[in-house]
Formats: sequence, C-alpha cells, structure tokens
Amino acid sequence: MKKQLLALLLLGLTLSSPALAADPVETRKANFKQSGQILKAVRGQIAASDWQAIADGAQKIADWAEKMPEFFPASAPSRGASPAIWENFDDFKSKAADNRNAALALKAAAESGDGDAIMGAVRTLGGTCKSCHSKYQAK
Ligand code: HEC
Repeated sequence: MKKQLLALLLLGLTLSSPALAADPVETRKANFKQSGQILKAVRGQIAASDWQAIADGAQKIADWAEKMPEFFPASAPSRGASPAIWENFDDFKSKAADNRNAALALKAAAESGDGDAIMGAVRTLGGTCKSCHSKYQAK
C-alpha cells in the first residue's frame, strides 16, 4: 500500500514536472527556481547525511542544464533574459555546460558522502550559476 502511494506520488511529480510546460519562458523560470530550491536544501541534507537526496538534486540540475539552451530560442525574449544571450549564444551554451559539469561533480561528491567535499562542490556549482547570471540575466 505504501509503495503504491509512493508510486502515485512519483507519477504525479513527473507529470507536473516543469519541463513539460509549453511556454519556454515559463518553463525556464520554473526550472531555474527548482535549481535554486535544490541548492538551498543541500545544507540540511548534509546535516541529515541524506547523500541520496543531494545526488538526486544534483542530477536534476544537470538534466536542466543540458536542456537549458533549447529553452532560450531567439523567438522567446523576456524581461529577465539579457539580449546578450543571443549575441553570444555559443558562450551562453558553454556556461550552461559548465553548470552541468559542476552539478555532476556535486553528484559525485554526494556519492562519496564527504560533507566538506559536498560543500566545496556546492560552492563551485553556485559559482557557475553566478557566472552566467552576471552576464546574461537582465536585472
Ligand atoms: C547559462 C546561463 C545560466 C545558468 C548556468 C544558470 N542560470 Fe539562472 N537564469 C539565467 C537566465 C538568463 C535567467 C532569466 C530567465 C528569464 O527570466 O527568462 C535566469 C533566472 C534564474 C532565476 C529566476 C527565475 C524566475 O523565477 O524568474 C533563478 C532563481 C535562477 N536563475 C537560479 C539559477 C541557479 C540556482 C543556477 C545554478 C544551479 C542557475 N540559475 C544557472 C541564466 C542561467
């Protein structure tokens, strides 16, 4: 019974996953918000030695980073997205790739269960968010 409930819950989560929304601007905002929430949760997860939750969260960030450029078609500008994105799209893509690699490094650190290594990987990952925002997020 518990297992069935859990399966239903997981199905619900998958179906309501932000990546399925149609509008690229709304989709990217929802995914970025999710990445922010994942990063915020890490400290508590380290305290609880919940390495699996950290690894799962890191994988979600990596998955989103991989798709991110597709959700920035030139046809979908927004108030939050600097026009510089479309003038330097290769650079934008490479910053998304840095973000993905740092998320995968966090996943590896989580799997090692070393709290200090995890915090270091979180800082590096956060740096890749900032490095894109400082250039490409319109304030
Ligand atoms: C390659 C570039 C890039 C990377 C990497 C990146 N972001 Fe962003 N982020 C953006 C851009 C551009 C926007 C503005 C999107 C828009 O408003 O259309 C944004 C918006 C956001 C927002 C605001 C969403 C909203 O509700 O409007 C949050 C929160 C955010 N990012 C968090 C993160 C976090 C956390 C990471 C790292 C794990 C990250 N971002 C990595 C480019 C990036």
